[in-house]
Amino acid sequence: MSNNIESLQTENRVFAPSAEFSAKAHVKSLEEYDALHKRSVEDPDAWWSEQAENLFWQKKWDTVLDWSDAPFAKWFDGGKINASENCLDRHVRDGKGDQVAIHWVGEPGDKRDITFSELLADTCRFANALKARGIKEGDRVLIYMPMVPEAAVAMLACARIGAVHSVVFGGFSATSIKDRLEDSEATAVITADGGWRRGGVVPLKANVDEALDAYEGVETVFVLKRCDNEVTMTEGRDVWWHDEVDGVSDDCPAEGFDAEHPLFILYTSGSTGKPKGILHTTGGYLTGTASTFKYIFDYKADDVYWCTADVGWITGHSYIVYGPMANGATQVMYEGAPNFPDWDRFWQIVQDYKVSIFYTAPTAIRAFIKAGDHHVEKYDLSSLRVLGTVGEPINPEAWMWYRDKIGGGRCPIVDTWWQTETGCIMISPLPGATPTKPGTATRPFLGIDAAILDESGNECGPNEGGKLVIRKPWPSMLRTIYKDPARFKETYWGEYEGIYLAGDGARTDDDGNFWIVGRLDDVLNVSGHRLGTAEVESALVSHAAVAESAVVGRPHDVKGQAVVAFVTLKEGVEPTDELSKELRNHVGTEIGAIAKPDEVVFAPRLPKTRSGKIMRRLLKDIVAGSELKGDTTTLEDHEVVAQLQEQFQKVFKG
Ligand code: WT7
Repeated sequence: MSNNIESLQTENRVFAPSAEFSAKAHVKSLEEYDALHKRSVEDPDAWWSEQAENLFWQKKWDTVLDWSDAPFAKWFDGGKINASENCLDRHVRDGKGDQVAIHWVGEPGDKRDITFSELLADTCRFANALKARGIKEGDRVLIYMPMVPEAAVAMLACARIGAVHSVVFGGFSATSIKDRLEDSEATAVITADGGWRRGGVVPLKANVDEALDAYEGVETVFVLKRCDNEVTMTEGRDVWWHDEVDGVSDDCPAEGFDAEHPLFILYTSGSTGKPKGILHTTGGYLTGTASTFKYIFDYKADDVYWCTADVGWITGHSYIVYGPMANGATQVMYEGAPNFPDWDRFWQIVQDYKVSIFYTAPTAIRAFIKAGDHHVEKYDLSSLRVLGTVGEPINPEAWMWYRDKIGGGRCPIVDTWWQTETGCIMISPLPGATPTKPGTATRPFLGIDAAILDESGNECGPNEGGKLVIRKPWPSMLRTIYKDPARFKETYWGEYEGIYLAGDGARTDDDGNFWIVGRLDDVLNVSGHRLGTAEVESALVSHAAVAESAVVGRPHDVKGQAVVAFVTLKEGVEPTDELSKELRNHVGTEIGAIAKPDEVVFAPRLPKTRSGKIMRRLLKDIVAGSELKGDTTTLEDHEVVAQLQEQFQKVFKG
């Protein structure tokens, strides 16, 4: 009996890019990718320095990679660079000052188009305002903002003066802010009075006030006026953004910082214990995000790009701010919810701005499917040419819907696997080169040496499940966990010597595609067979009645674990005992009897993090009948847990 993860899912639909798409793409065929990839992993220094050359360096580096103190990497040592200059000044100097950087859409319907010149001037003014309040190189600044252009301005202004930003997602609570302030020892906060969400105002400033009742270290709170909701301003600490930039010079020279100067800390929750402060630095991070943006989205100068993430996530950092802006891309930024006022909001925006590259999450796609196709069919989406997904494995059925309904059957889908820790996309198709299959992120990016290893550290063969690792350092890798280098070493480098452990289970197929089967912590173990959650969930979602599902194991005397499936049904479908039976059999047919759920629990909603990831560990606690353990501060909707506990009791006893 092997300890490895077994993989039973098979998917045979293959979609090659059209000849027309490939002809114009940066990388035009699988052969070209294969040759480039081989060369890039044989000599990563050459590949990454070629990519770094596309950025503007005030002083060129002396060494590409110093790995002598592994796992603490130094990339582009000796180089001097300013991230804000690369995202702004460089494009203005190149004559692109009048090009729109951000087409912004507010939730209530207000709109702004901001050019690169304007974004540069706003950033310089705000950077000068930060300096005037004593904020300097190395200081930590917490940003808690709605999705407005000033969120990007705040990040770029910090980067410009060498302050380290720590963005906290606007949906997080006062407690999360306080924890992050304490860990980062931040001395300033940038926030807004409020932000619009589903027609209501999120009281951002009030949340900051509550956090600051319990944390003393903040000297200045900058407050942007967005919603005009009432706020309390504490004399001597709180200042209005508009007052601080009023009459301030828009000249703020971009100082070159060491390539390894910290750019930001972003907190991500571990499965246990306190959130981890993932630290990214400047030169390598920009090299990784800029090059992946160009190749993976096949970005060209006339594209209009839209990533629907929030700047509070790594996706927003890497693929709203730094990657696209370092490429001088024109993008859409939207403040609000996808279903406000109705489920067609996104498609209206795609049509209005002729969006050509669209990047979103599987959880959003499943929500659109559930809401019904009529919301999509009203609009002209013919401007789209590349579609992307990120965040979790995408169920093949959702992938097919995305391709047909949103992409009109014409757009390559890039399923991008990466993490807060990796900084940039690591496994993904190149849209003009890689044949895609629904559900696989396909192949490692250029310069990335990804592999799947078994318990003893041997490379797994095709269709053998194991642990996903990266065998060589890459420029946008995390440098440490802030103030906790021991946890950094243990979490990511403790399993195999000198090799990065991603914490995901995966397998390759006969064609060399990587399939992510889920987090290693979530793996099921049924009668000695280790199964990934993603496969069972995909099988459930492939049934016409199912909108979404989450599968976990429950302790079982005989089998070790029994499989419990939480299932959300499509609009209008009734939960019945017959359906429950049908779904069990469906999994049996799709995957095999071993994966058949022992119980199916119908649920109106699933517990998710604010970024839309299903929190399987909470479901595990529910089915084990135990107290909820670990950090629940990232849970989006606390009510859902009580409901699920009740539902499970009914099914289990019944
Ligand atoms: C974890 C990282 C990276 C930005 C958003 C999430 C899962 C992410 C995929 C994908 C399968 C994926 C993994 C990974 N994940 N993208 N395309 N296919 N799984 O960042 O919050 O740091 O989460 O998300 O489990 O380890 P994150």
